[in-house]
Amino acid sequence: RGPDTYSPTGQETGVPQDKVAQGGEYLTTAQGARLYETDHSLKAGARGPVLLQDHHLREKITHFDHERIPERVVHARGAAAHGVFQGYGTAGQITKAAFLGKDVETPVFVRFSTVLGSRGSADTVRDTRGFATKFYTDEGVFDLVGNNIPVFFIQDAIKFPDVIHAGKPHPDREIPQAQSAHDSFWDFVTLHTEATHHTLWNMSDRGIPRSYRMMEGFGVHTFRFVNADGATTLVKFHWKPKLGVHSLVWEEAQITAGVDPDFHRRDLADAIEAGACPQWELGVQTFPDTDDQLFEGIDLLDPTKIVPEELAPVQPIGLLTLNANPSNYFAETEQVAFHLGHLVPGIDVTNDPLLQGRLFSYLDTQISRLGGPNFGQLPINRPHTPVNDMLRDGMHQTAVHRGAAPYRPNSLDGGCPFLADEDTGAYIEVPEPVHADRKVRDAAASFDDHYSQARLFWLSMTPTEREHIVAAYTFELSKCWEQTIKERALQVLANIDSELCGEVATGLGLPAPAPTIKLAEPDPSPALSQLGATWPLD
Ligand code: HEM
Repeated sequence: RGPDTYSPTGQETGVPQDKVAQGGEYLTTAQGARLYETDHSLKAGARGPVLLQDHHLREKITHFDHERIPERVVHARGAAAHGVFQGYGTAGQITKAAFLGKDVETPVFVRFSTVLGSRGSADTVRDTRGFATKFYTDEGVFDLVGNNIPVFFIQDAIKFPDVIHAGKPHPDREIPQAQSAHDSFWDFVTLHTEATHHTLWNMSDRGIPRSYRMMEGFGVHTFRFVNADGATTLVKFHWKPKLGVHSLVWEEAQITAGVDPDFHRRDLADAIEAGACPQWELGVQTFPDTDDQLFEGIDLLDPTKIVPEELAPVQPIGLLTLNANPSNYFAETEQVAFHLGHLVPGIDVTNDPLLQGRLFSYLDTQISRLGGPNFGQLPINRPHTPVNDMLRDGMHQTAVHRGAAPYRPNSLDGGCPFLADEDTGAYIEVPEPVHADRKVRDAAASFDDHYSQARLFWLSMTPTEREHIVAAYTFELSKCWEQTIKERALQVLANIDSELCGEVATGLGLPAPAPTIKLAEPDPSPALSQLGATWPLD
């Protein structure tokens, strides 16, 4: 017996709830009545009209008519796998999260995805990839909802509908940006230049991974670890694939999209089935939790910025192994619901405004995608720990809740006392001072630097990688119809690097503009690489 036998409220039932076999010697109706046959509807005579009284016919067709649910508003196309996460115990001094303890094994479910395409789109398009992990820990579910690119397009969640609308198919022809008119995407990212860094990663080989098994993953935002003494450390999460990072080249990606649009999901499932179980090491970059939340001048609350690994090395804290394919795509891959607010003691969020907006968005969208507020009871979403949440009723409620007093304290049910006491293992948010010293809709001044890290990324590329980036910008921008958008894009590139801008301009047959800003050259001082080591895990 395992978690499979828990009822939605966490009580052991002994009856496997997840594995409902559709087999057996005879068919029944949904009500369990044995059927005589299922291929002919009830008619008024062999050649007569079909009778409304044929409940089996109506039940079967009605159910079929309602088989589809809305696809995710973003990240609709995905593939997933079950696995296990093993903690190394190396993070014990900075977090009390029990699943990171030495040799603790935690079941996980990981869903990889593209962002913009619909559920039936091709796997190998140029796009960001989602990398979302659900840890079914002994302290409740922890979700790490990341991407394969360490930065994001925008700094504030209020722009998320805008950037997605700019990238999704045009409303008139429903032609995806990935294949046709590119104007709105490039219009957005050249007018909202905070998108420059992420766009450059997309135009690099990172935008066309060879395999889900060969992608890095990033939590993107800065999170907060809390240890047993209440001391806090800021962290950035990294997944490092054991197989290394590999990409397709653009021609391969395009041909594969036509020849085998399911290439990535097939690759993942085939590898696991063959026993070549993909593995990733989970690591963290760690930073002191200072009042200004800056590290070496980098604003840790700005999701368009990385902290170079030379400044803060990634320190391994556990190993992920994917070892089983889902047995039902709909029940598992489609119905899984990740959320940044699914946290366990020892891990907390920060004030990154993008992260804060995400905390609202996922639950909200899942209520409409999964038909009401009870999707947490679906087998794939259910914690592997007892649940006693006092939530009641609602669409698709499957629990038969008992007790007359779903509130605490109460004097009727002999209910547990409600003690917000850390000693009980409860989740307690870290208190943070609020600085209301500026207009509330303003962003921090450090959010205004949109180019220096894009330049850092460009400078870190090999000549071949640079060729690929130039080719990608040239190809994508050549699809824009509006000349002004191409010119604005060249201006953005000029602010990153004159060589990059010049080569793309030549490819587009346009003049290369001069930069409008001057960036400080990055300091490659070897002393910087020592800095991370002054803040070790143990
Ligand atoms: C879905 C990552 C920003 C809204 C997803 C998924 C991933 C992801 C991996 C797919 C989850 C799955 O496999 O089911 C990220 C990352 C972000 C980011 C790394 C930035 C760092 C945002 C923002 C918003 C947002 C700013 C909204 C304000 C959504 C929504 C879904 C989604 C609505 C669909 C969820 C569902 O239907 O279950 N995101 N996202 N995301 N994301 Fe984000």
